[in-house]
Amino acid sequence: MRKFLQHPITLFLTLILGFFVACQPQASTQQTPAQSPTASPTVSTPVAYVDRPLTASPAQLPPLPYDAGALSKAIDAETMRIHHDRHHQTYVDNLNTALKDQPNLQNLSIEAMLRDLNAVPENIRNTIRNNAGGHLNHTIFWQIMSPEGGGQPTGAIAQAINQTFGNFESFRKQFNEAGGDRFGSGWVWLVRNAQGQLQIVSTANQDNPIMEGNYPIMGNDVWEHAYYLRYQNRRADYLNNWWNVVNWNEINRRFQAASQQQARS
Ligand SMILES: [Fe+2]
Repeated sequence: MRKFLQHPITLFLTLILGFFVACQPQASTQQTPAQSPTASPTVSTPVAYVDRPLTASPAQLPPLPYDAGALSKAIDAETMRIHHDRHHQTYVDNLNTALKDQPNLQNLSIEAMLRDLNAVPENIRNTIRNNAGGHLNHTIFWQIMSPEGGGQPTGAIAQAINQTFGNFESFRKQFNEAGGDRFGSGWVWLVRNAQGQLQIVSTANQDNPIMEGNYPIMGNDVWEHAYYLRYQNRRADYLNNWWNVVNWNEINRRFQAASQQQARS
Protein backbone atom coordinates (compact mmCIF):
# COMPACT_ATOMS: atom_id res chain seq x y z
CA MET A 1 0.00 0.00 0.00
CA ARG A 2 2.82 2.39 0.96
CA LYS A 3 4.55 1.59 -2.34
CA PHE A 4 1.30 2.21 -4.21
CA LEU A 5 0.87 5.62 -2.62
CA GLN A 6 4.46 6.52 -3.24
CA HIS A 7 3.76 6.77 -6.96
CA PRO A 8 3.27 10.54 -7.58
CA ILE A 9 0.22 10.21 -9.87
CA THR A 10 -1.50 7.71 -7.58
CA LEU A 11 -0.80 9.90 -4.56
CA PHE A 12 -2.20 12.94 -6.37
CA LEU A 13 -5.39 11.12 -7.36
CA THR A 14 -5.80 9.76 -3.81
CA LEU A 15 -5.51 13.27 -2.35
CA ILE A 16 -8.04 14.67 -4.87
CA LEU A 17 -10.45 11.82 -4.11
CA GLY A 18 -10.04 12.36 -0.35
CA PHE A 19 -10.71 16.06 -0.71
CA PHE A 20 -13.81 15.36 -2.81
CA VAL A 21 -15.22 12.92 -0.26
CA ALA A 22 -14.53 15.32 2.61
CA CYS A 23 -16.52 18.04 0.87
CA GLN A 24 -19.67 15.95 0.45
CA PRO A 25 -22.60 16.74 2.74
CA GLN A 26 -22.54 14.38 5.66
CA ALA A 27 -25.55 12.43 6.78
CA SER A 28 -26.66 13.99 10.03
CA THR A 29 -26.47 11.81 13.06
CA GLN A 30 -29.08 13.98 14.68
CA GLN A 31 -32.45 12.41 14.04
CA THR A 32 -35.41 14.57 13.27
CA PRO A 33 -37.93 13.87 16.03
CA ALA A 34 -40.51 11.43 14.77
CA GLN A 35 -43.95 12.91 14.48
CA SER A 36 -46.11 11.20 17.02
CA PRO A 37 -49.24 9.88 15.34
CA THR A 38 -51.25 11.26 18.22
CA ALA A 39 -49.43 14.58 18.47
CA SER A 40 -51.96 17.15 19.55
CA PRO A 41 -52.29 20.56 17.95
CA THR A 42 -50.63 23.49 19.65
CA VAL A 43 -51.84 24.36 23.13
CA SER A 44 -53.32 27.62 21.89
CA THR A 45 -55.62 25.91 19.40
CA PRO A 46 -59.21 26.73 20.39
CA VAL A 47 -62.01 24.19 20.11
CA ALA A 48 -64.74 25.74 22.29
CA TYR A 49 -65.53 28.21 19.51
CA VAL A 50 -64.07 28.28 16.04
CA ASP A 51 -62.39 31.63 16.66
CA ARG A 52 -61.47 31.78 20.33
CA PRO A 53 -60.57 29.54 23.24
CA LEU A 54 -62.57 29.20 26.45
CA THR A 55 -61.39 31.44 29.27
CA ALA A 56 -60.84 30.34 32.85
CA SER A 57 -60.47 33.80 34.39
CA PRO A 58 -63.20 33.35 35.43
CA ALA A 59 -65.15 30.63 33.64
CA GLN A 60 -68.61 31.88 32.69
CA LEU A 61 -71.81 30.17 31.60
CA PRO A 62 -72.48 31.12 27.96
CA PRO A 63 -76.15 31.95 27.24
CA LEU A 64 -78.15 29.46 25.20
CA PRO A 65 -78.20 30.72 21.60
CA TYR A 66 -81.98 30.02 21.37
CA ASP A 67 -84.99 29.64 23.68
CA ALA A 68 -85.00 26.61 25.95
CA GLY A 69 -88.08 25.28 24.15
CA ALA A 70 -86.72 25.87 20.66
CA LEU A 71 -85.27 22.38 20.24
CA SER A 72 -88.49 20.55 21.07
CA LYS A 73 -88.13 18.43 17.90
CA ALA A 74 -85.61 16.51 19.99
CA ILE A 75 -85.30 17.93 23.52
CA ASP A 76 -88.00 19.39 25.77
CA ALA A 77 -87.75 22.85 27.33
CA GLU A 78 -87.46 21.67 30.93
CA THR A 79 -84.56 19.35 30.11
CA MET A 80 -82.81 22.19 28.29
CA ARG A 81 -83.33 24.58 31.22
CA ILE A 82 -82.07 22.14 33.85
CA HIS A 83 -79.23 20.99 31.62
CA HIS A 84 -78.00 24.48 30.85
CA ASP A 85 -78.96 26.54 33.91
CA ARG A 86 -78.06 23.94 36.55
CA HIS A 87 -75.76 21.23 35.20
CA HIS A 88 -73.59 23.45 33.04
CA GLN A 89 -73.64 26.21 35.67
CA THR A 90 -72.42 23.69 38.26
CA TYR A 91 -69.40 22.74 36.10
CA VAL A 92 -68.57 26.44 35.77
CA ASP A 93 -68.95 27.08 39.52
CA ASN A 94 -66.92 24.02 40.53
CA LEU A 95 -64.20 24.98 38.09
CA ASN A 96 -63.93 28.52 39.43
CA THR A 97 -63.82 27.22 43.00
CA ALA A 98 -61.01 24.79 42.12
CA LEU A 99 -59.06 27.55 40.37
CA LYS A 100 -59.58 30.14 43.14
CA ASP A 101 -55.98 29.99 44.38
CA GLN A 102 -54.41 29.06 41.04
CA PRO A 103 -53.57 32.31 39.18
CA ASN A 104 -51.23 30.49 36.80
CA LEU A 105 -53.95 28.07 35.75
CA GLN A 106 -56.50 30.87 35.44
CA ASN A 107 -54.28 32.38 32.76
CA LEU A 108 -54.56 29.24 30.67
CA SER A 109 -57.44 28.49 28.36
CA ILE A 110 -59.68 25.57 29.25
CA GLU A 111 -58.33 23.81 26.17
CA ALA A 112 -54.71 24.24 27.30
CA MET A 113 -55.56 22.92 30.76
CA LEU A 114 -57.20 19.79 29.41
CA ARG A 115 -54.41 19.11 26.92
CA ASP A 116 -51.83 19.08 29.71
CA LEU A 117 -53.57 17.83 32.83
CA ASN A 118 -50.24 16.64 34.25
CA ALA A 119 -49.35 20.30 34.75
CA VAL A 120 -52.36 20.70 37.05
CA PRO A 121 -51.65 20.07 40.77
CA GLU A 122 -52.63 16.54 41.64
CA ASN A 123 -55.03 17.52 44.43
CA ILE A 124 -57.32 19.37 41.98
CA ARG A 125 -56.52 17.42 38.77
CA ASN A 126 -59.64 15.29 38.76
CA THR A 127 -61.87 18.22 39.64
CA ILE A 128 -60.39 20.21 36.76
CA ARG A 129 -60.69 17.26 34.41
CA ASN A 130 -64.39 16.80 35.15
CA ASN A 131 -65.48 20.41 35.39
CA ALA A 132 -63.27 22.04 32.74
CA GLY A 133 -64.31 19.14 30.52
CA GLY A 134 -67.97 19.64 31.40
CA HIS A 135 -67.73 23.37 30.67
CA LEU A 136 -66.00 22.82 27.31
CA ASN A 137 -68.25 19.95 26.19
CA HIS A 138 -71.48 21.79 26.90
CA THR A 139 -70.21 25.04 25.35
CA ILE A 140 -69.69 23.11 22.11
CA PHE A 141 -72.97 21.21 22.49
CA TRP A 142 -75.26 24.28 22.61
CA GLN A 143 -73.70 25.67 19.45
CA ILE A 144 -73.98 22.56 17.30
CA MET A 145 -77.74 22.41 17.76
CA SER A 146 -80.30 24.78 16.25
CA PRO A 147 -84.09 25.08 15.91
CA GLU A 148 -83.46 25.26 12.15
CA GLY A 149 -81.21 22.21 12.27
CA GLY A 150 -81.69 18.67 11.10
CA GLY A 151 -81.91 17.14 7.67
CA GLN A 152 -79.05 15.99 5.53
CA PRO A 153 -75.57 17.38 6.14
CA THR A 154 -74.46 20.14 3.81
CA GLY A 155 -71.22 21.58 2.47
CA ALA A 156 -67.75 20.18 2.99
CA ILE A 157 -68.72 18.04 5.98
CA ALA A 158 -71.30 16.22 3.84
CA GLN A 159 -68.61 15.29 1.32
CA ALA A 160 -66.17 14.25 4.05
CA ILE A 161 -68.81 12.08 5.74
CA ASN A 162 -69.65 10.36 2.45
CA GLN A 163 -65.98 9.81 1.73
CA THR A 164 -65.23 8.34 5.17
CA PHE A 165 -68.42 6.46 6.04
CA GLY A 166 -69.95 5.75 2.61
CA ASN A 167 -73.08 7.83 3.17
CA PHE A 168 -74.90 9.84 5.84
CA GLU A 169 -77.12 6.96 6.95
CA SER A 170 -74.13 4.73 7.60
CA PHE A 171 -72.42 7.54 9.55
CA ARG A 172 -75.53 8.23 11.62
CA LYS A 173 -75.94 4.53 12.42
CA GLN A 174 -72.32 4.20 13.58
CA PHE A 175 -72.55 7.42 15.60
CA ASN A 176 -75.75 6.27 17.33
CA GLU A 177 -74.25 2.86 18.04
CA ALA A 178 -71.18 4.44 19.63
CA GLY A 179 -73.45 6.66 21.74
CA GLY A 180 -75.58 3.70 22.75
CA ASP A 181 -72.54 1.59 23.62
CA ARG A 182 -71.08 4.21 25.99
CA PHE A 183 -71.61 2.56 29.36
CA GLY A 184 -72.78 4.98 32.01
CA SER A 185 -72.20 8.65 31.29
CA GLY A 186 -70.23 10.21 28.50
CA TRP A 187 -70.24 11.61 25.00
CA VAL A 188 -70.14 10.44 21.41
CA TRP A 189 -68.14 12.54 18.95
CA LEU A 190 -67.19 13.02 15.36
CA VAL A 191 -63.57 14.15 15.47
CA ARG A 192 -60.81 14.99 13.08
CA ASN A 193 -57.95 12.86 14.34
CA ALA A 194 -54.23 13.62 14.28
CA GLN A 195 -53.92 11.87 10.91
CA GLY A 196 -56.50 14.26 9.45
CA GLN A 197 -59.22 11.61 9.18
CA LEU A 198 -62.80 11.79 10.40
CA GLN A 199 -63.44 9.31 13.19
CA ILE A 200 -66.28 8.48 15.58
CA VAL A 201 -65.10 8.26 19.17
CA SER A 202 -66.76 8.04 22.55
CA THR A 203 -65.44 9.57 25.76
CA ALA A 204 -66.31 8.74 29.36
CA ASN A 205 -67.72 11.24 31.85
CA GLN A 206 -66.74 14.76 30.77
CA ASP A 207 -63.53 13.92 28.92
CA ASN A 208 -63.08 15.84 25.67
CA PRO A 209 -61.41 14.45 22.52
CA ILE A 210 -58.63 17.07 22.73
CA MET A 211 -57.24 15.03 25.62
CA GLU A 212 -56.36 12.40 22.97
CA GLY A 213 -55.15 14.88 20.36
CA ASN A 214 -58.42 14.89 18.38
CA TYR A 215 -60.44 17.93 17.30
CA PRO A 216 -64.15 17.61 18.25
CA ILE A 217 -66.27 18.59 15.26
CA MET A 218 -69.61 17.55 16.74
CA GLY A 219 -70.72 15.62 19.79
CA ASN A 220 -73.82 14.39 21.55
CA ASP A 221 -74.26 14.25 25.30
CA VAL A 222 -75.37 10.77 26.41
CA TRP A 223 -75.55 11.51 30.13
CA GLU A 224 -79.03 10.70 31.41
CA HIS A 225 -79.47 14.36 32.43
CA ALA A 226 -79.54 15.17 28.68
CA TYR A 227 -82.64 13.11 27.89
CA TYR A 228 -84.23 11.38 30.89
CA LEU A 229 -87.31 13.56 31.41
CA ARG A 230 -88.69 12.82 27.95
CA TYR A 231 -87.01 9.56 27.01
CA GLN A 232 -86.42 7.87 30.41
CA ASN A 233 -84.24 4.83 29.71
CA ARG A 234 -84.69 4.99 25.91
CA ARG A 235 -81.34 6.47 24.99
CA ALA A 236 -81.61 5.05 21.46
CA ASP A 237 -84.76 7.13 20.81
CA TYR A 238 -83.02 10.26 22.04
CA LEU A 239 -80.02 9.53 19.81
CA ASN A 240 -82.31 9.08 16.79
CA ASN A 241 -84.34 12.25 17.43
CA TRP A 242 -81.29 14.37 18.16
CA TRP A 243 -80.47 14.53 14.43
CA ASN A 244 -83.57 16.74 14.00
CA VAL A 245 -81.73 19.65 15.66
CA VAL A 246 -78.18 19.14 14.41
CA ASN A 247 -76.77 22.47 13.20
CA TRP A 248 -74.88 21.60 10.02
CA ASN A 249 -73.88 25.23 9.40
CA GLU A 250 -71.96 25.38 12.68
CA ILE A 251 -70.56 21.89 12.17
CA ASN A 252 -69.22 22.97 8.79
CA ARG A 253 -67.53 25.94 10.45
CA ARG A 254 -65.94 23.61 13.00
CA PHE A 255 -64.84 21.19 10.29
CA GLN A 256 -63.19 24.04 8.41
CA ALA A 257 -61.51 25.28 11.60
CA ALA A 258 -60.26 21.78 12.37
CA SER A 259 -58.72 21.49 8.90
CA GLN A 260 -57.04 24.90 9.13
CA GLN A 261 -55.72 24.34 12.62
CA GLN A 262 -54.33 20.96 11.68
CA ALA A 263 -52.57 22.49 8.70
CA ARG A 264 -50.90 25.03 11.01
CA SER A 265 -49.90 22.64 13.79
FE1 LIG B 1 -74.75 17.30 29.89
